[in-house]
Amino acid sequence: MQRLIPDSNGIGTAAKALLDGDLVAFPTETVYGLGAIATSDRSVARIFACKGRPSYNPLIVHVAERASAAVFADFDERAIALADAFWPGPLTLVLRLKVHGAISRLVTAGLDTIAVRVPLHPTAQALLRRVELPIAAPSANASGSISPTRASHVEASLGEDFDYLLDGGPASMGLESTVIDLSDDAQPGMLLRPGSLAREDIEALIGPLAQLPASSGIKAPGMLARHYAPQKPIRLNATAAENGEAVLTFGNQSIGRAPHTMDLSSRGDLAEAAANLYDMLWTLDASDAEAIAVVPIPNLGLGEAINDRLRRAAQPASTHSTRAPAA
Ligand code: TXA
Ligand code: MG
Repeated sequence: MQRLIPDSNGIGTAAKALLDGDLVAFPTETVYGLGAIATSDRSVARIFACKGRPSYNPLIVHVAERASAAVFADFDERAIALADAFWPGPLTLVLRLKVHGAISRLVTAGLDTIAVRVPLHPTAQALLRRVELPIAAPSANASGSISPTRASHVEASLGEDFDYLLDGGPASMGLESTVIDLSDDAQPGMLLRPGSLAREDIEALIGPLAQLPASSGIKAPGMLARHYAPQKPIRLNATAAENGEAVLTFGNQSIGRAPHTMDLSSRGDLAEAAANLYDMLWTLDASDAEAIAVVPIPNLGLGEAINDRLRRAAQPASTHSTRAPAA
């Protein structure tokens, strides 16, 4: 694996590599992605191998603008309204696949829907415009583990098993995109994965979102119980630190004198907390603490996605069973 500076040379090298079938990790505003050209079965297959990702878990296709996605995905009025309002940005739409054949079937795991997103990050944008083809990219981490918000996380999680890494510094938002299913126009939009765009912002445009029933694991494989998980055990809603625990706090709450304490946002700002969450989990996971205690986090706005990730991270490893892990 070779690191690249995301200047025009670096982006040129990365684009050529993608077109040659290579895997390129690149920054987005949410988390780093591990990219392959979405039309190439061989390249997309390498993503699944590199992440150890189960093949039934479909990937997000990234494009530079909505027009490029409209070639293969069916946008209804709601999808157009959301795309107009939030693209480029941290929103993924699951839409009906219009034509089979353009995108590798491995990307969609054989479903007749496809997840699409237009990222905001200038490096992601430049790369997409250079290759002029859709890029399939899951988060650039080993399946089931914490998503990477820095180039160093990508390296730590995936090792050398891919070709290039565009280092764009820390991700500004730090939690994955919000995934909304609009593939059935007779149904309300469904929130498949809370993320960096708050539910309230989406509902303001298309009305109340339905919640994914707890049993529908296959509809959104990335929403399975244990996921986004560090190595160390996590204890949620902690009000007092126990011996040997590191502490992840919020808004300056003090729950004891743990040797490793990090504050997601000392001023109690949920966007700042979202941006810091994975980075701080990476750091505390690498510390010599035995476990990580997390204080209660308010469940409004981006707090919904933060709490979702914390709940999945806190699932005991034994629930890893059946079809998890994913994404
Ligand atoms: O912020 C993000 O979304 C990042 C950056 C790199 O763009 N990507 C990302 O990809 O988080 P990944 O693969 O880690 O998560 C994609 C999620 C998974 O939960 C997957 O199951 C779901 O999207 N997904 C993809 N295609 C789907 C489909 N057709 N129907 C339902 N869920 C789908
Ligand atoms: Mg992922």
